[in-house]
Amino acid sequence: MTDEKAYAYKVTAAGRVNIIGEHIDYCGGKVFPAALSLKNTVYVRPNGTNNINLSWTTLPDKVSLDTENLLRYKSLKYGNYQAGSALMWRRAGKKIVGCDMLQDCTVPFGSGLSSSAAIEVSTIAALAAVAGEEIDPVEIALLAQKAEREFAGVNCGIMDQYASACGKSGNAMLLDCKTLKCEYVPVKLGGYSLVIINCNKPHNLVESRYNERRAETDAGLEALKDIAGITCLADLTLKQFDRCASLLHNKIRYRVKHVVEECERVKLAQNAMAAGDMVTLGRLLNESHTSLRYLYEVTGKELDALAAAAQGHPACAGSRMTGGGFGGCTISIVRTEAVEDFKKYVLARYEKDTGYKATCYEAEISDGITVQKL
Ligand code: GLA
Repeated sequence: MTDEKAYAYKVTAAGRVNIIGEHIDYCGGKVFPAALSLKNTVYVRPNGTNNINLSWTTLPDKVSLDTENLLRYKSLKYGNYQAGSALMWRRAGKKIVGCDMLQDCTVPFGSGLSSSAAIEVSTIAALAAVAGEEIDPVEIALLAQKAEREFAGVNCGIMDQYASACGKSGNAMLLDCKTLKCEYVPVKLGGYSLVIINCNKPHNLVESRYNERRAETDAGLEALKDIAGITCLADLTLKQFDRCASLLHNKIRYRVKHVVEECERVKLAQNAMAAGDMVTLGRLLNESHTSLRYLYEVTGKELDALAAAAQGHPACAGSRMTGGGFGGCTISIVRTEAVEDFKKYVLARYEKDTGYKATCYEAEISDGITVQKL
């Protein structure tokens, strides 16, 4: 049990699930994530030194970060995200205070539910709290994204950090990644539930394959920007795509097609959610998965098997991978009264097809950053 009274603040930031709008945040698209009750909690107190002393509720490790020399911690197994976050906080000209931080993460690592964003965002918010600086969730999200890009080496978009910082209980977020305008959309699933299942495939080379996809979409934009008069791929219409598609090499054409069509699906999903039309929303999830499988090539056989098992259950309106891909989780929309039967069926079917045991998570749609004075 954590002795909360021994700390000055309890700060949390959320993991997230993305309902739809995958691999389009870094193309300036609109995405549709929601923050989860799976989160990272940081208990923090000032310690009167120049060091950030890290410990974990779930790990025996103890790490001390010298706040004057944060660059040296890039290759730490545990503590690297915290070091990168502190470095970006410092570089932004903010006051940094030596402190003890106890970290308690309930977002499963490598699951596609943004454990890294939850760690980065909560660490920066904890540094702000203990230094008496203002907590501005959007600013913190942007600094956390910088940590992920410049320190962890993943050239990510803004979706994860934004959802982790700015999420709102009971609401999904329609986030325009070009303008950072965010509309909160109450999640009303009318008799259906969201079910998140991890395929538990060990990840490998995720960062380099993610960065490769991003470079491919950059190449697509470069090839089309003058001819289509666009500054980001999300602004390319379906009609324009059809007209210019032959200018693109095969692989780049597939990637761009995914981006353009996924942007369309987000619009349709927003309408379906507003109308309470879960059948249409489910169909859009299925189409998104197919596109991520064949056009964007970020699924892999385990995620494909898990999505197929889910889609094969009669109570499932639709299912797809969520997050960066190459492993991690699926999200499914399932009739609430059949959820237990659905889970049993999918876990058994998936294990039979792949030999891996999948894991289901219980999670609510929850708030982003919270700060509690202890
Ligand atoms: C990862 C990245 C996000 C986003 C998703 C794919 O989670 O961190 O920025 O690109 O992949 O949608």
